[in-house]
Amino acid sequence: MSTRRMLRKTSSLIEDAKLVTQRNHADNENQQPVSIQEFLICSTAQSDKLSLSFVAGCLENYEIKIKILEGKNGKIHPPKDDNCWEQVYVSCECSLSHLTSIEKTITEAYSLTMKRLSSLDNARSFHHEVQWFPKCAADLDLCQHLREKPDADRITDEHPGFQDPDYAERRRNITEIAMRYKHGDPIPSVEYTNDEKETWRKVYSTLRPLHATGACLQYLNAIDELETCGLYSADDIPQLNDVSEYLNDRTGFRLRPVAGLVSPRDFLASLAVKVFQCTQYVRHHLSPMHTPEPDCCHELIGHVPMLCDEEFAIFSQEIGMLSLGVCDEDIEKIASLYWFTVEFGLCKQDGKIKAYGAGILSAYGELEHALSGRPQLVEFDCDKASVQPYQDADYQPLYFVASTFKDALFKMRDYAAKTIKRPFDATFDASKTMIRTQTKRSAYDITRAVEQIRSQVTALEELII
Ligand SMILES: [Fe+2]
Repeated sequence: MSTRRMLRKTSSLIEDAKLVTQRNHADNENQQPVSIQEFLICSTAQSDKLSLSFVAGCLENYEIKIKILEGKNGKIHPPKDDNCWEQVYVSCECSLSHLTSIEKTITEAYSLTMKRLSSLDNARSFHHEVQWFPKCAADLDLCQHLREKPDADRITDEHPGFQDPDYAERRRNITEIAMRYKHGDPIPSVEYTNDEKETWRKVYSTLRPLHATGACLQYLNAIDELETCGLYSADDIPQLNDVSEYLNDRTGFRLRPVAGLVSPRDFLASLAVKVFQCTQYVRHHLSPMHTPEPDCCHELIGHVPMLCDEEFAIFSQEIGMLSLGVCDEDIEKIASLYWFTVEFGLCKQDGKIKAYGAGILSAYGELEHALSGRPQLVEFDCDKASVQPYQDADYQPLYFVASTFKDALFKMRDYAAKTIKRPFDATFDASKTMIRTQTKRSAYDITRAVEQIRSQVTALEELII
């Protein structure tokens, strides 16, 4: 039996990230991406009264997404039906070219002045514009997914099902579910054929005995529970919706059906909003132990049990959080970190090397190889893992070994603090299940704020005296 790895999606994750970097470097400079912009619109002696509705009307003609519209510095003669302000603060998502057009309209057509805030200058000091990213699971409906690669859901000549039109048709029918899927919908069930069930049975029953000695404790606990509650068995392929509900109860992660390759940026961003993009089709039945791309055997056997573990779920989400709004070069590094942890990570438990990476746990050949003593094992180090060359045509020659998930998480946070550059902080609001961002303030902003406080204190002191 062939034992080649079955992870085309994740190998492509790094490769695709490199391609995106190259492509974007070559892009026309006029194609400006959207970023977070903040500015103040200020009334002048020549201007009419400045109201929020007026500003909203001015901005309506531009393709921008207003995040905050707020009156500042006191109201000017507020009439009954509207509030007029000295200044209106705007935080929005738009390109620099649109910002320039807005400024021109504001100053020339309406005799107002516009002050771009220092946070914008901070953003400019970074070498990239912040690209739009999903803030919640529903935003994943807006992600590009397969659009960047229209052929991504097609079968290439290296696929075992290349010469099987029935398989190609079957796969197309299943991927239609993902193409139509919208957040909040239950994931439609697939009535798997006997061939597909038999493929699952072979993969599942081959791997399960090997997990007992090769898988980490967290994986074993999780898959035992999945079996105990009746979701997992060798006899049938679990339905994504059932697994997603179970997973959501455990760690807050959900599954979302995906038709094939996903752009690295979108795939990583989905982790940030606690969504794992999951294929629903099954590899070709003539090649049960090999697939050149991820299929539901890989996702359900490799990824899902680990995502049931709270610490690992946090680790996975934080990898996703790192990717939000970063430049293409950083996406490459984060994709590499993902590869050497979530896909091909090893850890040490009770003095023994165990697997936690889905690419190892879902491929018996890789599992045997990773634990054979032949490949090089290196202590997990983000600086090294983020640039380590990877192998997608054969087994990994090198694996990184984490002492614990918590230790790996701390290392990743340290790495992010010193390496990943973006003009905002991103946090996950668990109660609202959405990403919140806050613009980073520069040393100049802080100095200015301190000076303002000092002058206010001095004024108060003078009053007391
Ligand atoms: Fe994977």
